[in-house]
Amino acid sequence: MSEETQANGAEPAGTETAGAEPAGTELGTANAAAVVGSGTSAQWLARYGNSLMGVFGSPQRVLVRGAGSLVWDADGKEYLDLLGGIAVNALGHAHPFVTSVVASQLSTLGHVSNFFTSPTQIALAEKLLELSQAPEGSKVFFANSGTEANEAAFKLARAHGGSARPTILALEGAFHGRTMGALAMTAKQAYREPFEPMPAGVRHIAFNDIDALREAMDETVAALILEPIQGEAGVRPLSREYLQAARELSRGHGALLIFDEVQTGVGRTGSWFAGSAAGVTPDAMTLAKGLGGGFPIGAIITFGDAPSHLLSAGQHGTTFGGNPVATAAALATLHVLESQDVLANVRAVSDVFAEGLAKVDGVGDVRAFGLLVGFDLAEPVAAGVVGAALEAGFIINAPGPHTIRLAPPLNLSAEQAQSFLAALPALIATAVAAQHSKGNS
Ligand SMILES: Cc1ncc(COP(=O)(O)O)c(C=O)c1O
Repeated sequence: MSEETQANGAEPAGTETAGAEPAGTELGTANAAAVVGSGTSAQWLARYGNSLMGVFGSPQRVLVRGAGSLVWDADGKEYLDLLGGIAVNALGHAHPFVTSVVASQLSTLGHVSNFFTSPTQIALAEKLLELSQAPEGSKVFFANSGTEANEAAFKLARAHGGSARPTILALEGAFHGRTMGALAMTAKQAYREPFEPMPAGVRHIAFNDIDALREAMDETVAALILEPIQGEAGVRPLSREYLQAARELSRGHGALLIFDEVQTGVGRTGSWFAGSAAGVTPDAMTLAKGLGGGFPIGAIITFGDAPSHLLSAGQHGTTFGGNPVATAAALATLHVLESQDVLANVRAVSDVFAEGLAKVDGVGDVRAFGLLVGFDLAEPVAAGVVGAALEAGFIINAPGPHTIRLAPPLNLSAEQAQSFLAALPALIATAVAAQHSKGNS
């Protein structure tokens, strides 16, 4: 492999396709190296700054290649990926089964408009209905992301409520996405304020507070939307009692109960869906993130006849949603999760994290729900721990100044989890020392 292609991290292009071809000649097959070029991390980051909108701030690293739970940056440094693209890479990177199914689908039929359907779309809808134990009459709509799945949920609520029921209840701390409907249901002021006015009718109520819910629920409420475990807010679970009360109160008042399982669904918590683990069936549930194993796809499942007929022909749609490649990626991911009993691994490795983290000095509350793991630090050094972890070759995330979140591939091994636990005390010490020296200077 030449230094150039190594730096890019991709395999060299085939001899018949090396790099740019003069116009009009046979292109043959190639890989990304033929269309991307190469560079060091510093070179790529300079180009990023000149060409990409700054909404994500400055990227932490330029990643070029992955295999399982490992990824490599443009300078060849290796990392254990304990964030998995924020709960997306359910089977890690470049899973051979998923990769081969996606490649074969793309080389057979990549896209059709929604004037048509494809076997993968139908088979995935059936599979999701089976896994979610949806009753007769339940249906699926495919989108491309979590926020889009929640836009469909928002429209479902409006279609159900009409003008008589204009209210949508959401919870403090909620994150449902960045498009306008989903943003209206997201709680964080900093995300909302620059884009006001929000779509009307959304009210945020206290988190995990059954009395507050009882008080807010009346005949003007079209829907209650909630994450069974809030991920972006730092892995905060709703109690089983709250989820059950949410089911009873929304049913009692004729409102829809909508679970946003974009982050918690598809095996992330050790069950297929976090809400069903609490014994609660919602009227609708949104999915995305892990569903495509890294390929973009979102979905909303409506449970039973009534919610499944709220949106009629022409009332909602998408160009890309449910396309053959995305649905093949999701089917392949679900096939691996199911046939390899990956959910058993999720539960076992979750225990490794829970037990190990409880023994680390400087770690407070530990919230391990399958492989969605949050833990609090005694000092507000979470960003420093993330930085120290990167230097040490671990990718983790800080959803708040005191909180670390892990959402690794669901097939992470116990040994890989242990390697992070062994490194963590030094990462915290480094972050605390840096904080103190900043305070002293
Ligand atoms: C619970 C939840 N809902 C919705 C979203 C939005 O998903 P996306 O970023 O795919 O639009 C996220 C993303 O973090 C999420 O965690």
